[in-house]
Amino acid sequence: MRIVILTGAGISAESGVATFRDADGLWEGHNVQEVATPDGFLANPDLVLRFYDERRANLATVEPNAAHLALAELEQRLGDDVLVVTQNVDDLHERAGSKNVIHMHGQLRSALCMACDERFTWDAPMANDPACPGCAVPSLRPDIVWFGEIPYRMNEIQDALLAADVFVAIGTSSEVYPAAGFVALASEVGARTVELNLHPSRMSSHFHEVMEGPASEVVPRWVRELA
Ligand code: OAD
Repeated sequence: MRIVILTGAGISAESGVATFRDADGLWEGHNVQEVATPDGFLANPDLVLRFYDERRANLATVEPNAAHLALAELEQRLGDDVLVVTQNVDDLHERAGSKNVIHMHGQLRSALCMACDERFTWDAPMANDPACPGCAVPSLRPDIVWFGEIPYRMNEIQDALLAADVFVAIGTSSEVYPAAGFVALASEVGARTVELNLHPSRMSSHFHEVMEGPASEVVPRWVRELA
């Protein structure tokens, strides 16, 4: 049974990572155009670098929760048949033990050099314009997919969706494409589709099954029931 699991900010909410669109979400108080677009970065790189520096530093204060752990256990049980495609830029899936993870929107703990195009594991701040470890040019940016940029590894994701028997979306508002369209594709090729969310999302009616509740409860339950 091949399972593709799409995760969004809701899976990390109970770990203490802010979601984007809930009340007190990350975008409240932040202008998305300023901190999450290439134009915003060009206009005010310092503001953008500091925004992601803060979020990167916050990773040290949070831990995976029962939902991340349940998905890691599922992968241990079923191996390569389980793929996590996450929109999250935190590293909580990896810290829970998941190995087969695609970060379609990039990662906080990665730096991308705009001069040499190389990526580097990055835990330090970037607002002080550090030199690229590869080419020495001080031209690093967060390795995050901003609005207007193309998500990573879309070919692999599409292949996995086309071969999926089960597609599960966890803790995502389904407001952002292409991820919001994955349920339609998976459904079209015959996968059973399940949504796990605190509240129904705008895509709920497209799923065969919807389980409402906090991720730390519904994800372990769904994994148990799958056994
Ligand atoms: P959103 O903030 O849009 O949605 C969070 C979802 O999580 C909502 O549907 C909530 O109902 C749900 N939720 C909140 N707490 C939960 C809990 N404890 N258990 C289960 N569900 C819970 O976040 P995303 O859908 O991930 O992109 O946002 C998608 C993309 O928009 C992000 O990756 C980001 C943003 O712009 C980039 O930065 C490129």
